[in-house]
Amino acid sequence: MPSIQACLFDLDGVIVDTAQFHYIAWREMAQDLGFDLTREENERLKGISRMESLEIVLSIGGVHLSEEEKLRRAADKNARYLDLCMQMTPDDALPGVRRFLDELKQNGIPSGLGSASKNAKVILERIDMLHYFDTIVDGNRITKGKPDPQVFLMGAADLNVTPAHCAVFEDAVAGIESAKAAGMLAVGIGEASVLTEADIVIPGFENFGLPQLEKI
Ligand code: G6P
Ligand code: MG
Repeated sequence: MPSIQACLFDLDGVIVDTAQFHYIAWREMAQDLGFDLTREENERLKGISRMESLEIVLSIGGVHLSEEEKLRRAADKNARYLDLCMQMTPDDALPGVRRFLDELKQNGIPSGLGSASKNAKVILERIDMLHYFDTIVDGNRITKGKPDPQVFLMGAADLNVTPAHCAVFEDAVAGIESAKAAGMLAVGIGEASVLTEADIVIPGFENFGLPQLEKI
C-alpha cells in the first residue's frame, strides 16, 4: 500500500488563481470606503473566510461598520468577485494540475477539495474540473476555518482514509497549519520562505507527479 492514499487540494492558488479576483474586489471595496489595499496586505486574506477577510480589510482601513452594513459589503464584494470569475475558462487551471489529477485517478487515489470558499463548486464548474473530486469540503460545510484542521479532517473522513495517509496541497500559511494540525503531509505550493511549516514546497505541479509525492 502506498503511504499516500488520498490527496486533498485547496482551490484558490492551487487549482486556479482566483486570488487576483479576490484582491480586485476587496480593493474596490476598500477604495470605496476611502483607503487602499496593497498586494502585501492581500496576502493576509489567503485561505481566510469571507467574513474574517472583511474584518481584516476593515481593520487595515480603521473603518467601523454596523453588522448589517458588513453583510451588505460582503455580499457586494462577492457579487463583484463572481463577476470577475466569469472571465475564466478551462484554460485557467494552473499548469500541470489537471495532469496530476488525471494521474491520481489512473492510479486509484481519490482526490478531495478542501477550501474555505463558498464559491468552490461554481468555480470548479467554470473551469470544468468538478468531476475530478470525490468529495468537496467547502465554506458551506465547515464551521471552523483554516488554520483549524476541520476542513481536511472532513475530507479524509469522506474519502475513508486516515489522516496520516493524506497529502494536502496548499498555497496559504493558514492552510499548511491546518494540514499539519490534521496530521497530514503538507505540500506547499509557492515559496519555501513563506510556507515554512510545509513538509516540502514546490513552485507548482509542472514537474510534480506521483513518483515525486511518494519520495517525500
Ligand atoms: C479561499 C481564499 C480566500 C477567500 C475564501 C472565501 O480560502 O483563499 O481568499 O476569502 O476562500 O472565499 P469566498 O469565495 O467564500 O468568498
Ligand atoms: Mg489557497
